[in-house]
Amino acid sequence: MSWQSLPKVELHLHFEGAAPPSFIRGLAKEKNVDLSKIFDENGGYRYENFDHFLEVYEAATSVLQTPEDFALLCDAVLEQSREQGVVYTETFLSPEFCGGADVAAWKEYLHAIEEAAARGEAQGITLKGCVTAIRHFGPDRAKKTAACAAETVGDFITGFGLAGAEMMGRPGDFAYSFDMAREAGLRLTAHAGEWGGPDMVADTIRDLKVERIGHGINAIKDASLVKQIAEQGITLEVCPGSNVFLNAVESWDKHPIQRLRDAGVNVTVSTDDPPFFHTTMTEEYNMLEKTFGWGEDDFREVNRVALNAAFCDSATKERIA
Ligand code: ADE
Ligand code: ZN
Repeated sequence: MSWQSLPKVELHLHFEGAAPPSFIRGLAKEKNVDLSKIFDENGGYRYENFDHFLEVYEAATSVLQTPEDFALLCDAVLEQSREQGVVYTETFLSPEFCGGADVAAWKEYLHAIEEAAARGEAQGITLKGCVTAIRHFGPDRAKKTAACAAETVGDFITGFGLAGAEMMGRPGDFAYSFDMAREAGLRLTAHAGEWGGPDMVADTIRDLKVERIGHGINAIKDASLVKQIAEQGITLEVCPGSNVFLNAVESWDKHPIQRLRDAGVNVTVSTDDPPFFHTTMTEEYNMLEKTFGWGEDDFREVNRVALNAAFCDSATKERIA
């Protein structure tokens, strides 16, 4: 069966990380920026490892300069997701890349992105934004990002998150920003346990009080933590293709998604940064079918779990279900 047409819910998609390489190349040409070293001979993104990926990611992002650039990117990302049968998606947006985490500038970028999201809505795909701090930029810059999030919480901006180099600092360094976001009414998620061990996941839950974890896969190394995650109903935004491509997990058959699900954890499936990892939502589903024998009932269940954990309001959930 082809899974392309199955209606899908995606919770973990980095906005800039979803940019097709051709889109970034086009902007680079228009703006006279030499980005040749970030592309391979086939025109895809080229990088050696996770740290290098983050550098290439930021280089690609450097050509996204105006609100209009972000609006066009939004059109391209939604078109790409719609082709994969995605009906609802949440995307990580970084005010750092939209005017340097200045509230007034951020509002202008956001306005342009929201207009594009409304165009997507008319085409049958709902987009919500999760403002995301970047760990390796440090806790002080995260506070500025949290202020941007707190100033724009609403129907579109519903969440606050943390991405970037996981091994820099500890989750508690970002507690101030997460407290600010929570008090503003935002729902919370943070990357943890993609590279860090179970301690990083446990500290993230304790110190940042998140209800979802980006990746979280290394929780599998601590059975009592897995039990805690299941009992607390914390949802994992699992991105298996990303984990295998970046070597966070050795191979698809060693991926812990099945074991986490069997342990009663709320498991969802996303692509992370699809063109960077040569994946799509359909490809993730194909590989889950091939590796673990998942079928239509499994995918429908995973999508129910994702919609339940989504950061939109209940009226939106009822419309999409
Ligand atoms: N930013 C974009 N993709 C990421 C990932 N997989 N982990 C952490 N930060 C990211
Ligand atoms: Zn991610």
